[in-house]
Amino acid sequence: MTKIIQASEIDEGAALLQDGQLVAFPTETVFGLGAIANNADAVKSVYTVKGRPSDNPLIVHIADPEDIFDYMIDNDPERHDLIEKLTTQFWPGPLTLVVPVKPDTFPSVVTGGMDTVGIRLPDHETTRDLIRATGFPIVGPSANISGKPSPTQVAHVMHDFDGVIGGVVNAEPTRIGVESTVLDLTDSRGLIILRPGYITKTMLAEVVTGMPIYIGGTIANNADEAPKAPGMKYVHYSPNQPVMAVSSDKMSNVLANLSSQSIKVALATSENNFEKYKTSVASIVSLGPTIETATQQLFAALRTFDDQENIQQIVVELYPDTEKNGAYRNRLIKASSTVVE
Ligand code: TXA
Ligand code: MG
Repeated sequence: MTKIIQASEIDEGAALLQDGQLVAFPTETVFGLGAIANNADAVKSVYTVKGRPSDNPLIVHIADPEDIFDYMIDNDPERHDLIEKLTTQFWPGPLTLVVPVKPDTFPSVVTGGMDTVGIRLPDHETTRDLIRATGFPIVGPSANISGKPSPTQVAHVMHDFDGVIGGVVNAEPTRIGVESTVLDLTDSRGLIILRPGYITKTMLAEVVTGMPIYIGGTIANNADEAPKAPGMKYVHYSPNQPVMAVSSDKMSNVLANLSSQSIKVALATSENNFEKYKTSVASIVSLGPTIETATQQLFAALRTFDDQENIQQIVVELYPDTEKNGAYRNRLIKASSTVVE
């Protein structure tokens, strides 16, 4: 049985983690699937229950900013200063820092055998209490079966893992709704955003003056280096039905076309377009008035449609290509088999 752990019972969650069991936990981005990071068997079971490829490293979650220096090779004063600047500005918050891992701090299964580790300090008081009570950092990939939309509610975690994991810490739906920005601090050429998130290049550039910032994929791997973002090559966020990402101005054409083929469509759309299309599709949800609400609700919308058996095609509104819309677009396009804009 999977126990729903209340914030007031956090010591029970910590005891499960210390015992090598898995406990899902809330953050500001998505729910994570926690295991104590010094127990190789516990960490291995995270990969097993998710069905996650073993070469895709996990993020380690800490409770206090200065703890990052306990787990990394801290021999470069410039990098040390940079980390202090970044963590002062953005931690707790949705920014993961990839740094050289200190040997013998974590079993190699945590880092997928790489010589770097991703570290983050989540903006969720209950989870920071859980980490402190556990007495050691916890790994936390998103608490979903690999390839499925990430969980933003306790119900999503239970849908994928009820009866399979020890517990889930109860909390409200997550505030941001997509995973953290992953920033590589180990490349001599500058900072590399390996995964886009709420924290954008512009926000980073305001803090890190005079250092180039690259978006992963737009800069070549150094010849002697392994691929930088192992997780980005896998299928992601996919419900059972095919997903089509469609811009607002192409929407009426696309829906008319699907309707002429008698295809049963579920639509997730901005509040603006909700009234306009609600009678022309089999199922509809509103993503609210802003890019923030749309980002927060995207994965929940995909999961809602996943459980509706009469649906043949999911259509989701694709917001315009601006930096602020970047994380939403990245996740939606990864989930989609067709993009129309
Ligand atoms: O918001 C988040 O980051 C959530 C919450 C639960 O904290 N966690 C999360 O974990 O999204 P996960 O495992 O689903 O995604 C981790 C990403 C993967 O793309 C992985 O490849 C990358 O971070 N990553 C982790 N460690 C890395 C490393 N040492 N070098 C490069 N990329 C790394
Ligand atoms: Mg994930």
